[in-house]
Parts: sequence; C-alpha cells; structure tokens
Amino acid sequence: MVMDEDVEKTNDVERTHRTEVVDPTKHLHLTWLSLLKFITRNIWSSHKGNCKLKLQSFSKYNAQAATPLREERKKPTNQDDEYADLDWDNLGFGLTPADYMYVMKCSKDGEFTKGELSPFGNIQLSPSAGVLNYGQGVYEGTKAYRKDNGKLLLFRPDQNAIRMQIGAERMLMPSPSVDQFVDAVKQIASANKRWVPPPGKGSLYIRPLLMGSGPVLGLAPAPEYTFIVYASPVGNYFKEGIAALNLFVEEEYVRAAPGGAGGVKSITNYAPVLKALSRAKSRGFSDILYLDAVKKKYLEEASSCNVFVVKGRTISTPATNGTILEGITRKSVMEIASDQGYKVVEKAVHVDEVIDADEVFCTGTAVGVAPVGTITYKDKRVEYETGDESVCQKLRSVLVGIKTGTIEDTKGWVSCIN
Ligand SMILES: Cc1ncc(COP(=O)(O)O)c(C=O)c1O
Repeated sequence: MVMDEDVEKTNDVERTHRTEVVDPTKHLHLTWLSLLKFITRNIWSSHKGNCKLKLQSFSKYNAQAATPLREERKKPTNQDDEYADLDWDNLGFGLTPADYMYVMKCSKDGEFTKGELSPFGNIQLSPSAGVLNYGQGVYEGTKAYRKDNGKLLLFRPDQNAIRMQIGAERMLMPSPSVDQFVDAVKQIASANKRWVPPPGKGSLYIRPLLMGSGPVLGLAPAPEYTFIVYASPVGNYFKEGIAALNLFVEEEYVRAAPGGAGGVKSITNYAPVLKALSRAKSRGFSDILYLDAVKKKYLEEASSCNVFVVKGRTISTPATNGTILEGITRKSVMEIASDQGYKVVEKAVHVDEVIDADEVFCTGTAVGVAPVGTITYKDKRVEYETGDESVCQKLRSVLVGIKTGTIEDTKGWVSCIN
C-alpha cells in the first residue's frame, strides 16, 4: 500500500545495492554476432545520462527459470553488532531492507526445493513471468519482536502459513508446507536479528511472498513458483502514529466482490485500492472503509486492516464471506475480547450501525489495534470515543503484551527464537 510517508521513506532507502557494471568483452570471448545478441537481450540502464550495460547472467537468460540475481546488499562492516545502525526512535513503515532474504523454488511437480538465505537484493524474472503479467501471487505479513532478554518472539506464524496455503489454492499455485513457511520466517528473523528494533521501539516486519515466477504467454498458471521472505524494521504504520484514524467511507470504488479473491491475500487485491486510497489521503483521511459490492450498505474492511464496531459491551465485526480478509489480528482480538467478557458478534454490519457506534477500531499486523477518531460518510463526519479507557485501548494493550512477551501467553500464540 502506498502512503505519502511510505513513498518518501522508500525513496530514502539506503542505497547500498551494488550493481556490477562491467565490460562484457573483458569477461567473455564473444563474436560480434553473439555480442549483439547479448546486448539486445540484456538490460540497459540509464543513470545520470550514462548508459551502462548491466551484466546479469548470459547463460541463464532464457525463458525457463527466474534465477535470483543478487545485486548484493553491501556487507555491513558492523554485522556482528547487536543492532544495525538505524534511528530506532523514528521508524515509520518504509522499506529498510534487512541483510538477508530467503528464497525457495518450486517447479511443475509442486515440490519446493530446500530454500536458502542470501543477501537481500534484486531478483531476476522473465518479462513473461506469471506474476508480472497475470498477477499470480499471494503474500503475507508477520512481525518479530525483541524481548528485554534479547530473545525474539513471533506471533502465530503458522496462521500466516495456513492463510498463504488457502490463498495459493485460490490462485492455483503450489504453496510451502506450514513447517517450511514457519522455518523460513524463523530463519529470516534470526539471520536479521540486528534489524529487530529494541523493545518498545517497533518490530521486524517479515514479508513472505509466493509468486508465479515461471514464464507464460497465454493465460495459464506459471510453470515455476518462487517463495521469498524478506524483512524490514518498522514502527507505526499510519503517519498518525498511535493517534486516532480518520476514515472515509468509499461509495464509488469497491475492494472485492462475491466470488472474487478478496478473502485471500492475493497481490491483485491491493493495486486496485490505490486510486481511492490516494484520493482519500489527499483529502486528509488516514484510510478508506469499503462497502460491500452488491448493496453498498454493509461494511467490509479498510485497505489493509479489518474493522470493529463497539456499542456498549458488544463488539461487532463484518463476517468473513469471501470478500474480507480473515485477519490473524482480527481473530486474536475477537478471542481476547470474549475472554474479557465482551459479546463478540460476526455479522453483516450496516453502515448506519457504524454511524451510531460508541467506538470503532481497526486491526492488522501492520496497523496493530488502531483507534478510529472519525468516520466520514456522505459528507457527514461522526466522532468516536478514543483514549486510555476505550475498549480499543484495553484490547490493544493485551495483544501488544502477549506479542512482546510482557503478558504471559496462555494460548500458545507466541514462539520464541533464541
Ligand atoms: C486487506 C487486509 N485486511 C486485513 C488485514 C489484517 O490481517 P492480519 O491481521 O492478518 O494482518 C490485512 C493485512 O494483512 C489486509 O491486507
């Protein structure tokens, strides 16, 4: 998802990638013909007016495989330090790539080969890769937290693995087993430990991505799949920090329709929201609340988080029916809220009910449990209760406590990595 802040941060990403720029004739004895073929096949990059030939891979440049190309992240000199050199007090939600990524491939037989860690860097894809042309891809998001004792905690990564499997099935892709997925996430957290923020300063956002990396021309499933996991330290998702959000109820665009793929974390669900989202942001809103595609009367979710509505001791959230992503935070918050004696209801939530609510809050791995201060619907702006005594804040503090190890995990949600 693109936010103004994200764009700025992304542009600011430490430019540590080293692209080897070499004269190909020094390395290969090419005839003029083969040199010409090589030049026409490979990528020219124009930078500051200089056209330089990026030597990538001669022999591997064929339509068979999406071989990872490592534009290696410059090896940090202080790699043994406990912490990377970062301004931990000012983390936003922009990409600051951690040292290592994990790559695992799967060919037609549906079997994933053993994955491995490599320095974070660009990958090479055929221009006809399924993911680039037909959007065959699903992703996940999970976080690692650092405890006071230095150990790392992961929150329900098995749930992400299962959701990826369900999404992959919908997009006709093979997927890693739960063990393969969780093992990859653990490896990434531990290999990038120095990028996990100090306790209380944020978390290491871990992004598992599964894509059709093999080439296709006609619309068909890709012949090869790549599973990649990378990570970035993050702080608050919204530029509001932990302040209340201002949401806009979108009546023109819909996020998902019955029978579509809104219920899975397909990459195809995200670009279509950008237009409405950036329009809302330019008007000063934090995010959008989408309505159902059929009647445009029932609440669905925000661009990257689920929504809850509080009235008295009842907490309602839109029922998942294939158009709403079943958030892991949503599920966890529902359980915590029931434990605390709230009546938790999953149902079709009419937009009028939202207008009449005491509180509204959003949930997601990236956003956490975020209070909503106002909702604007049909030019009417409604304010909600927020603050320390709010239901949102109470649920948030329990969830954050469990995730970060300050509240005992009696549910088996947290796994610890040394
Ligand atoms: C569209 C959408 N809804 C909800 C969520 C929240 O899901 P989770 O709590 O599993 O992060 C996300 C984020 O993953 C999302 O992208």
